[in-house]
Amino acid sequence: MNSKDCLTLGIETSCDETSAAVLSEGRRILSNVIATQIPIHQKYGGVVPEIASRNHILSIMPVIDEAIKEAGIGKSDISQIAVTFGPGLAGALLTGVSAAKALAYSLDVPLIGVNHLEGHIFANFLATPDLEPPFMALVVSGGHTSLVRVDDYEKFSLWGETRDDAAGEAFDKVARVMGLAYPGGPSIDRLAKEGDESAIDFPRALMTDGNYDFSFSGLKSAVLNYLNGMKMKNLPINKADVAASFQRAVVEVLVHKAIDGVKKSGLDTLVMAGGVAANSALNKRLLEETSRRGINFYFPGAKLCTDNAAMIACRGYYMSLAGEFADWGLNAVPNLNLIGRG
Ligand code: KG4
Ligand code: ZN
Repeated sequence: MNSKDCLTLGIETSCDETSAAVLSEGRRILSNVIATQIPIHQKYGGVVPEIASRNHILSIMPVIDEAIKEAGIGKSDISQIAVTFGPGLAGALLTGVSAAKALAYSLDVPLIGVNHLEGHIFANFLATPDLEPPFMALVVSGGHTSLVRVDDYEKFSLWGETRDDAAGEAFDKVARVMGLAYPGGPSIDRLAKEGDESAIDFPRALMTDGNYDFSFSGLKSAVLNYLNGMKMKNLPINKADVAASFQRAVVEVLVHKAIDGVKKSGLDTLVMAGGVAANSALNKRLLEETSRRGINFYFPGAKLCTDNAAMIACRGYYMSLAGEFADWGLNAVPNLNLIGRG
């Protein structure tokens, strides 16, 4: 590390992970500490917002201290602080925003407000150091499903998004009714490996070419109806088959739209972002489909695709290059969207 390097402290508290990270310049991770609350929320079958806020409050300062220590720096070495200000849970976001503001004020360093979804996309710059825009990005998280064209570090356009449930939300809800552990995505991913993905024909919505919006609530209802129907008829349910067939329906929709979008864009690169990008079937199918068509395909590994502060620091670093700093009025914006920029 050069003494003139820009050191960005990233802070992320939008949902159920309290995370802090230090980046040197835009892409070198010096630390990325993640305190997950998953075991705390597991017994409720999903994230309980009040409990999430309380645990963020307990963890935020120790996590920041740990990130600074692991990076081998002191607080006074920090050049700037980037924090997620939306979208996410209001109380959870406020914890991170307040900590970031207090720290930036006391250290007299600039503050940067980061859109969590942009952070997910930027995780790819950390995972693939020579990746540069332009590319298409498939953002698949617990709260969002979007297809985004990224022309430049500051120029995004939203091509389509979900009209109802996000892909991760569908995984979580279907897992919940099947009695699988929260978060549902990894549980379904694991169980699906033992099932037959063509056992049940679940619907795929909005599949016409050129339509980049998503809809997963019909699929979720179809799975619920199937489970209820089998129960009423006293027929045995093969949960692995249900998991595999449901997952296949989600994956087919995501793959179809992502590939169609890349073709339409005229670009040659696709990146994937967000927690659902950890899904093994989705990775496998996208790898096959992109390599068959000569499309470059990148996704951040498991640690960088779920919520973490390194991706927030990365997004914040590029915002700082563009002079996009926040003022002390920065507030949490729970329903912040990934809107077109540039
Ligand atoms: O991006 P993320 O960590 O948080 C949000 O910003 O929402 O995404 C969490 C979502 C959850 O819905 C979780 O079930 C899903 O990502 N997820 C997965 C897998 N791992 C996490 N979904 C499918 N397969 C996985 N392996
Ligand atoms: Zn996220």
